Amino acid sequence: MELTHRPRRLRRTEAIRTLVRETLLHPGDFIQPLFVIDGTGVREPIDSMPGQFRLSIDELVKECKALTEVGVPAVNLFGYSDEKDAQGLASYRADGLIQCAIAEIKAHVPDICVQTDVALDPYTDHGHDGVLVDGEIANDESIAVLVRMAVSHAEAGVDQVAPSDMMDGRVGAIRVALDDSGFDDVGILAYSAKYASCFYGPFRGALKSAPRELENVPKDKKTYQMDPANVEEALKEIALDIQEGADIVMVKPALAYLDVITRARQAFDVPIAAYNVSGEYGMVLAAAEKSWVDKETAMFEVLTSIKRAGADMILTYFAKEAAEILG
Ligand code: PBG
Repeated sequence: MELTHRPRRLRRTEAIRTLVRETLLHPGDFIQPLFVIDGTGVREPIDSMPGQFRLSIDELVKECKALTEVGVPAVNLFGYSDEKDAQGLASYRADGLIQCAIAEIKAHVPDICVQTDVALDPYTDHGHDGVLVDGEIANDESIAVLVRMAVSHAEAGVDQVAPSDMMDGRVGAIRVALDDSGFDDVGILAYSAKYASCFYGPFRGALKSAPRELENVPKDKKTYQMDPANVEEALKEIALDIQEGADIVMVKPALAYLDVITRARQAFDVPIAAYNVSGEYGMVLAAAEKSWVDKETAMFEVLTSIKRAGADMILTYFAKEAAEILG
């Protein structure tokens, strides 16, 4: 049969497929989220996230060294806190866990980019990302605390703060506060299009930060995180964060929102991050455990899809493992 076009010619051998491959993963694409806990010598497995650990600061420093050795350029820190109150007071102490963790990493592994989560959920007794006033997550009152948290991280030496709370105007408020405190070189990685997703479940287990089922406390985060049905609204959120001074904008989760990543890529010329969240990690692991998928193949297929969709960087619990294999 005479056929002018035979696309299969470009798939014949691995060498040819390598030549025409459009999307290449690199260890430099990844950011490893890490969980920090009090103590020394602690490397506590997280039940809901097999292969991930709560690390005391000394172990965290070792992990950061190991990550730089395999070419992962950045970590994103989350603090585990037993101290929880209505206002999230433990979030912005100068000698708090995350603040000490930043300083220790910067002292021992200065080359790694340290990012920190800025949101109150690990520190509030109700598990919400902001403060509660009359049964509602109060926007401006929350920002006042988030700003203090961000500045305390900057004082400890953080490279980039990552507000994940979804309060309106927090990026601008944090930018102004950082600049006023002399931290104009500290960047903002904004969780701009963060959806109210079920895929955060395993993460909330890691930090014991699920919203509490208490009277007068909202059970979910739908009044501040976005409706999974919306994409135009995501573009608006991203545009606002860029206007307010975000250096990098993020779409989260990644897999069920690949179209959002692509639309953001087409509409904006700032770096775009995507968060391959805990539930997405868990789905791959659970299916692999049942031998329904091959773990390594699934991991790379997922990561490649996120990059192909348009993400410049990927926060992923697979960061270290994928970087080791990519070499
Ligand atoms: C907290 C925060 C969450 C995640 C990152 N920062 C949970 C939430 O919003 O409830 C989820 C990360 C993951 O699931 O891997 N503001």
